[in-house]
Amino acid sequence: MGDRESLGYGENSPGFVRWDDAGRSYNDAGEVVGFISPLACIGSPPEHRDFRWEMIDGNGVPFAKPLIHPTAIIEAFVTVDGGIYESTTIGARCFLMKHAHIGHDAILGKEVNVAPNAVVGGHCQLADQVKIGIGASIRPRVHIGKGAVIGAGAVVVRNVPAGAVWAGNPARDLHPKTDEDIWMEWWESWHLKDR
Ligand SMILES: CC(C)(COP(=O)(O)OP(=O)(O)OC[C@H]1O[C@@H](n2cnc3c(N)ncnc32)[C@H](O)[C@@H]1OP(=O)(O)O)[C@@H](O)C(=O)NCCC(=O)NCCS
Repeated sequence: MGDRESLGYGENSPGFVRWDDAGRSYNDAGEVVGFISPLACIGSPPEHRDFRWEMIDGNGVPFAKPLIHPTAIIEAFVTVDGGIYESTTIGARCFLMKHAHIGHDAILGKEVNVAPNAVVGGHCQLADQVKIGIGASIRPRVHIGKGAVIGAGAVVVRNVPAGAVWAGNPARDLHPKTDEDIWMEWWESWHLKDR
């Protein structure tokens, strides 16, 4: 998995010890809490025109080290590029499946699933519990809201709201809200507010 020093250990990870040579991470009770496959490629230089080799320090580490939460699972052949402006960030309990690619400066919240062969472009932001289907492509700088699901093979070129299910090329909302849904949501929130 390359130079382990290239990984941010996550200051928000109390009890975390370290990754071992097999890529498993442990808490201080000795339990395995996460995994980075030795065949994953973490922290290689950002694929960005502004990248300069001077940004690499003496250990071959990109300027902005990726920040990987120790409870993340990162399978073989996943690539997580280093950041050019800020750390590419993989949150707690994320699951990156084989051949997924996470571009430079992307930020993944908690419990994000990225299925095999999906590509998350640079600077994308994926909120908690987002699911990206097999082979989907997310255009750089797109934001995907909490709990949204992106279908297999989708090409996402616009921001996706929380909870939505988008698929296709270009990806569209598969289950758009009807006027009645919007009315009911407003009605329920208005009642809840009153109590
Ligand atoms: C997007 C997805 C979540 C939609 O599931 P759903 O809400 O149950 O939707 P449905 O299967 O009822 O399909 C609704 C419509 O969208 C279409 N559709 C579904 N998935 C699609 C996709 N990925 N791309 C394009 N169209 C899709 C269906 O053909 C159907 O069209 P129709 O109404 O004209 O017949 C699902 O199909 C999908 O792609 N999941 C990703 C699975 C995956 O990659 N998992 C990773 C496992 S490792």
